[in-house]
Amino acid sequence: MTQEQKAAVSLLRWYVEHGVTDSIGDMPVDRRKAEVPHQQDQTPARAAPAASPPPSTKPAPAASADDLVSNARRVAGAASTLDELRQALETFDECPLKKTAKNLVFADGNPEADIVFVGEAPGRDEDIQGLPFVGRSGQLLDRMLAAIGLDRTRAYITNILPWRPPGNRNPTAEETALCIPFLERHLELIGPKVVVALGGVSAKQLLDTTEGIMRLRGKWRTMNIANVMDVPLLPMFHPAYLLRQPAQKRLAWQDLLSLKDKLDLIDEG
Ligand code: URA
Repeated sequence: MTQEQKAAVSLLRWYVEHGVTDSIGDMPVDRRKAEVPHQQDQTPARAAPAASPPPSTKPAPAASADDLVSNARRVAGAASTLDELRQALETFDECPLKKTAKNLVFADGNPEADIVFVGEAPGRDEDIQGLPFVGRSGQLLDRMLAAIGLDRTRAYITNILPWRPPGNRNPTAEETALCIPFLERHLELIGPKVVVALGGVSAKQLLDTTEGIMRLRGKWRTMNIANVMDVPLLPMFHPAYLLRQPAQKRLAWQDLLSLKDKLDLIDEG
């Protein structure tokens, strides 16, 4: 192997170690400077500079971010079943995350269950399989469920975002805003008796707060779903965080016991 090839292999290894597992374009993008173009908009590596469009093909003015979110709300609101909502997401092309994701990750588990777990976003394994929490953190989540007598036939699992952000980067505020109407409608259609927010991103989004997960975890809060129902919500540590910080499993266990108490009360009532 030449020195150049060795350097390229070592750079690729470094990317993989840092969670960059997929290439989403032909050219590198300096994200500190550039607006990130969508994949299909990217100019091929050695193409000549694009000619300006002829006057007759002047593009229509781009819809504002608010218009796009209103449209997402209208599309999500028109779905009256989970199947229709999934279908609506399959045909909704406004969110850039969809363009780089391999699959829609809608949900897993039992839609009739009392309890819904809401994670953050699909990772690589979830993107490949089209199901939430199937990678390492999903395996830990399954063990956490089993510890309180639950499994995926007695719980429902979804995420704030239904598409994997490329390379697991943080989603932009615009991308998240376009997905939220679908999540709200999703929860409204399910009508859970209890919601668990897995991790800070999910808790902040569902509770509309800036408080961090360290303060939020283990304290029952009330979540309003789409202005139609109030539901008890328990923020918990994300399983991926627990894999990195196993000492925090002690606190997660306390939260699981609190969750079990709540579910027992619901069963009795
Ligand atoms: N992490 C999440 O938040 N959701 C998944 O589906 C997988 C990992």
